[in-house]
Amino acid sequence: MKKIIIAIDGHSSCGKSTLAKALGNALGYAYISTGDMYRAVTLYFIEKKVKIADPVAVLAALRQIRLHFENDGTTNRIFLNGRDVSEEIRKMHVAELVSPVAALPEVRREMVHQQQEIGKQKGIVMDGRDIGTVVFPDAELKIFLTADPDERARRRYDELKAKGLDVNFEEVKSNLLERDRIDSTRKDSPLREAEDAIVLDNTHLNHEQQLEVALDWARERI
Ligand code: DC
Repeated sequence: MKKIIIAIDGHSSCGKSTLAKALGNALGYAYISTGDMYRAVTLYFIEKKVKIADPVAVLAALRQIRLHFENDGTTNRIFLNGRDVSEEIRKMHVAELVSPVAALPEVRREMVHQQQEIGKQKGIVMDGRDIGTVVFPDAELKIFLTADPDERARRRYDELKAKGLDVNFEEVKSNLLERDRIDSTRKDSPLREAEDAIVLDNTHLNHEQQLEVALDWARERI
């Protein structure tokens, strides 16, 4: 059977990685949430106090970073220089700095390169902001996922609360709106719909319903 590349892009917290994972499992494909890569780089920059305004320091830091994914049977775990940082990267201190870090051309160039290498195997679902526009412009299926901002903030808030983190709803909402603003207005590969992307608004869909819709689109192309 033909193996395809599925690109899922969209705003912060609209369930891109949930859909990517469900699609990957249903099709027997690998899935990669590229936001985790930008988050892991951001964590490294925070820990090593890398000055993001200094391109030389940024490049030197990028050379020290090794990222890899391991699948534990249910989810992908991301490792930063051999350390599992899957939980750490979801925290607010990382969320607050990730958009400025992801706007740096040096960071994007390196991440896009790594993502394209991963995609060479085909049979992959990748989610992010620029997957259908920059990373895989020839992807067979491109989905642009969207949802109402209040609904998105509520989902992210519930997710963080469920992990026992002390968060405030307004803070979560303003963080995600600010990330949307930076991600959509940056010079280098801003978040936008690819011309051939299909828009999927999941505000009123549950996980099963959105998976069903996306799976139909995928099967039409396989
Ligand atoms: O998907 P996420 O919320 O975990 O992504 C975290 C940040 O990383 C997001 O604010 C923008 C950035 N990002 C990006 O610029 N390009 C991608 N392909 C994926 C994420």
